[in-house]
This record gives sequence, structure tokens and C-alpha cells, in this order.
Amino acid sequence: MDAILAQIEAHKEEIRTFETTDPELLEAFRIRFLGTKGIVKALMGEMKNVPADRRRDFGQVMNAFKETAEARYATLKEVMTVADAGSTGPDATLPGDPLSVGGRHPITLMRNRIVSIFRRMGFAVAEGPEIEDDWHNFTALNLGEDHPARDMQDTFYLSRRPDMLLRTHTSNVQIREMQRNKPPIRIVCPGRVYRNETVSARSHCFFHQVEGLYIDEGVSFADLKQTLYSFVKEMFGEDVRVRFRPSYFPFTEPSAEMDISCMLCKGEGCAVCKRTGWLEILGCGMVHPQVLSNCGIDPEKYNGYAFGMGIERPAMLKYGITDIRLFSENDVRFLRQFTAAT
Ligand code: DAH
Repeated sequence: MDAILAQIEAHKEEIRTFETTDPELLEAFRIRFLGTKGIVKALMGEMKNVPADRRRDFGQVMNAFKETAEARYATLKEVMTVADAGSTGPDATLPGDPLSVGGRHPITLMRNRIVSIFRRMGFAVAEGPEIEDDWHNFTALNLGEDHPARDMQDTFYLSRRPDMLLRTHTSNVQIREMQRNKPPIRIVCPGRVYRNETVSARSHCFFHQVEGLYIDEGVSFADLKQTLYSFVKEMFGEDVRVRFRPSYFPFTEPSAEMDISCMLCKGEGCAVCKRTGWLEILGCGMVHPQVLSNCGIDPEKYNGYAFGMGIERPAMLKYGITDIRLFSENDVRFLRQFTAAT
């Protein structure tokens, strides 16, 4: 009897320390202890050899022994089932699929850069309509009835409303802002503009501009130059040189065009700057007194400057884009390249 009890203790120890994740080994364990010819059954069979007065105790020991084996088996089986589900189902510990976030369009990136530089200089952002009337786009800006820009060749007119058109520049916004506000006015106006041009690698029938306007008392051309100098340094870098050339716009007097030294060849002359060493980037000037009075601002009291620049050109220079049509084709292979850009 005592020999059997010692055997049971040894088996219990074996059961408690038994470990496996292999289903075959677990099955062998079950057969060894709990099978029809297993150890538990065999030891139960010893009952008849136990003296009658000790059978009760022996029965209890055997039950505890059997439960130990069953419990161990159930635990190992459970662990195996969970591990098994893990190997066929999704593994929650793997990193997730990255969410594909869109990037900003290069025109948007460039517009944001331009606008943020002027905002830091105290300019507010204003916007105006792309479908505009003739007066705000032309007449108020001193472009007379016979001005060549009004030609159907250059301007898209609405077929049902011949007095309405797609704005040819963002200068319509300076008119609307001067009508609406009293000086001081200090704004930049980004937006899309349209011209009836043949689409090619270098020109498109729609593109983007940023207009600038500052109206106050006693504004000088020096203020204009300094503002644009600061802009160029921030936008294109400290080494870039600037030059102003006299020019003509009906809405400014005097008028100028501003060039920057070509950043690709450092002014040496290359294909991009057409061997001149200079890139034209904007038009500007002192707002014509007639334009001020067209908008209800007293030109005896106030004056100011305006400027207008394209967005495509600097974007093409910055990102090395050689065909303007890429901006509007929405080819994801092109657009994806700007995902990481700021
Ligand atoms: N509106 C002109 C254009 O589209 C650009 C321009 C030139 C705007 C001079 C201005 C300016 O405000 O002063 O070509």
C-alpha cells in the first residue's frame, strides 16, 4: 500500500512538471495517464488489494491523482488551442499597415511658402472670384476698352454673359479689397488665373499667381523694394541677387519688373535663364492714382504699391520640373514625389 502511495506521489510530480506545446506529446501524456490502459486506471485496479479499512483513504488519494492529471491535460490543451488560433488568425503583435496619407500639390506647397513669408511681414490673405466682371478685371485697373489684353484671343469670356470672364490675373482682388476696406491695406492674394493660350511645356491656359498690395499714407518705392528684397532672401536664399527693370503696367506708375539671379547657374548663363543669368519673377509698381480713385480711395491722401508673381515658375525652379502640364495632369507618380516635401 505504501509502495503504491509513493508511486502516486512520483507520478504526481511528473504530471506537475510536464510541459509541452506539441499536440502529439500531449496526446501521449493523455494516453499514459488517462487512457483506458493508462496509469490512473491501472492504479484504480489496485483498490481490490487495499485492506478494507484503508480503501476510503485510498479512494480519495486516487481521485486527487486523477484530477491532477486531468487538470494538467486541460491546461496544456488550452494553451495549445490559443497558440494555434494565433498562428492561423491575425497576429495582433505585428505592426499595422501604414495609412497612405496624401501629399500636398507642389503648387500648394509653393503658394504656402510665398504666403507665409508675407504673412510674417504683416500681410493678410485675401481671395476673390475666378469668374469676374469686366470692370474688376480690366476697367478699374486702367485697362481701357481698346487694351489688347481684352482681346478674345487672350481672355476667356462667358458665352452667355459677354460682360463676364475668367479672371486673367489676381489683380481683380486688389480692386475688390480697396473697394471694401479703408487704408491701411496690406494683403497678399493667391489664386488661379486663366488665359487663352496654347498649352505647351512652358505655358498653360490656367495657372496661379500671388498678388500683393499695400496702401497707406506716405508709402515709397523704397518700401516696395525692401519688402521684395526680404521676400527674395527668404524664398531663394541669401546669395541670390535682385534687379529691377523699368516696365509698364496700366495700373501702376512707375512700374517695374523684378529679376533674380539664376540659382541654377549662379548667374553664369544656362538654358533655364536663356543664357542671361537672370530670371524674371514678378511685376510691380506704385498703384496708379486713377486706380485708387476708381476704388473710392483718395489719391491725394493715400498711395501704395502692388506686385504680382506667378507660382508655377518658382515651383518649377525649386522642384526641377520642366513641363508645366504636369501640374494639372494628376499623375500620382508625379504627385507622390511631393508627399514628404514641406
Ligand atoms: N497683373 C499682372 C499680370 O498678370 C502682374 C502684376 C504686375 C500685378 C504689376 C501687379 C503689379 O500688382 O503691380 O501680369
